Amino acid sequence: MMQDLAMQTLEILMNSVGAKADTVILRIRESEHDNRIDIEVEDNGCGMSPEMVQKVTDPFTTSRKTRKVGLGVAFMKGLTEQCNGSFDIQSTVGVGTTVRASIQKDHIDAPPMGDLGEMIMYVIQADENIDFRFYYTTDNGNFEFLSEAVKQELEGVSLLEPEILLWIKEYINEGIIHAKEGME
Ligand SMILES: Nc1ncnc2c1ncn2[C@@H]1O[C@H](COP(=O)(O)OP(=O)(O)O)[C@@H](O)[C@H]1O
Ligand SMILES: [Mg+2]
Repeated sequence: MMQDLAMQTLEILMNSVGAKADTVILRIRESEHDNRIDIEVEDNGCGMSPEMVQKVTDPFTTSRKTRKVGLGVAFMKGLTEQCNGSFDIQSTVGVGTTVRASIQKDHIDAPPMGDLGEMIMYVIQADENIDFRFYYTTDNGNFEFLSEAVKQELEGVSLLEPEILLWIKEYINEGIIHAKEGME
């Protein structure tokens, strides 16, 4: 099944949630000019040892004696390799992890971006206490979504209220359209 970029990114973000991060930062840059899409996920979760990083990025080359790991990271890495891109994980135990993936935007195998608003809604639903920050950049403009700012506006109303979650999804998707069109 072909996963869009939003769903692949959700896998990476859910790893940050699973790593007990209290701050998760997603940066996405879409550039027509450079013909690139860059995705970066930074968290302050539990981090990984170098051995663990090796194991999650190349799950098929590592020892069979070690615990099984999933394929979310490996799939993202594979996608970057398929699409003339690059992939990198920087991680420190007890400090956090940064995953960077970049692909050629118009590559024939490049999946569509998908629904980023909906994807971020899922992340917030997974843990509303996370300080989640989304920075989106194009050649024409920027958009940012900060969960803490929304929480302040809501004055105690939960982000998990269905109307709030839907508002977040729409707000983000409109912000993305405006950033693409250069109307900030
Ligand atoms: N941001 C992260 N912080 C800490 N550990 C991580 C992070 N991302 C991945 N990992 C570790 O790598 C493993 C493999 O991740 P992944 O490839 O997404 O598969 P899965 O999540 O199904 O195990 C995770 O189970 C986790 O132990
Ligand atoms: Mg995972």
